[in-house]
Amino acid sequence: MLEKLESIQTEALEALASVSDEDSLQAWKVAHIGRSSPVMDVFKSMGSLSKEERPVVGQQANQVKQALEAAFEEKAEMLKQAAIQSSLEGERLDITMPGRTQVRGRLHPVTQTIRQISDIFAEMGFQVYRSREVETDEMNFQLLNFPPHHPARDMQDTFFTTQEGIIMRTHTSPGQVRAMREYAAENPKSPPPVRVILPGMCYRYEQVTARAEMQFTQIEGLAVGHNITFGDLKGTLSDFARRMFGQNVRTRFRASYFPFTEPSAEMDVECFVCGGEGCPVCKQTGWLEILGSGMVHPTVLRNGGYDPEKYTGFAFGMGPERITMLKYRIEDIRNFWRNDMRFLEQF
Ligand code: PHE
Repeated sequence: MLEKLESIQTEALEALASVSDEDSLQAWKVAHIGRSSPVMDVFKSMGSLSKEERPVVGQQANQVKQALEAAFEEKAEMLKQAAIQSSLEGERLDITMPGRTQVRGRLHPVTQTIRQISDIFAEMGFQVYRSREVETDEMNFQLLNFPPHHPARDMQDTFFTTQEGIIMRTHTSPGQVRAMREYAAENPKSPPPVRVILPGMCYRYEQVTARAEMQFTQIEGLAVGHNITFGDLKGTLSDFARRMFGQNVRTRFRASYFPFTEPSAEMDVECFVCGGEGCPVCKQTGWLEILGSGMVHPTVLRNGGYDPEKYTGFAFGMGPERITMLKYRIEDIRNFWRNDMRFLEQF
């Protein structure tokens, strides 16, 4: 029996020596230390041995079993290390290989313009105020001094919603009233001065053409306080024009009309394409219209919670798409929403 045990061990170890992968290792385990392996059979046949033989054979069988188990563990560890080694060699990193270049994204040209405009007004002490795109008819028109059915509403054809009185804002001006009301709420008896710009998306029910989109951005500006004059309006906006279009650019103000400002004016800047000589961009006039503006109408101040006897203010609104188009001589406003990479990648 002892000799048999010895040969069981020798044979098993020989078989193990030729094992070189995980599958055959598992098969070896079943065959040589599994429940019906030769060593285990020895344990099972112990009953037929004499009292004297039993402890000797038992001890020897245990030793063989332990030796085979240890050999198994050792082999398993060896195979594991070999697998790691081969994956390290096979998947070695070549750090001399040139990296893949990352394609860098960029901001939409209109976003770039909005940021540039916002930065200039931030330097002048204006804060960004975000108002809403879905508005009430009351905010968008009535509180801005557009009476119901007034023809001035036709200047801004409206997208209505299925909910009565709820519309898509046609301009950022309703944000004036929202901003004033929020500021006035802080101290209703003596509301604090307001200096905000309101950038955002506006919607108009319009025929889409090269010059008009039904969705576009505006930047509104509002300054309210004591003794604010039309001179402040002119000074602020001329300064803005110089910072935006160049230190030597000239500006001019033309009388205009908006229901929510009185008096109202549009500002032109000297055509920066031809320097005022006259060219196709300025349609031979030498001037480019940039924004609408005016002194906040007393009714609007009152609607915002500011007493027009004590406060005055100015407001303005401009179209970043239009400014971007002038700056880069883009001829078709529809490019901004086409999502054509060939267009967007140029900015
Ligand atoms: N809301 C006006 C428009 O959309 C622009 C404007 C804003 C004019 C503020 C005066 C003051 O055309």
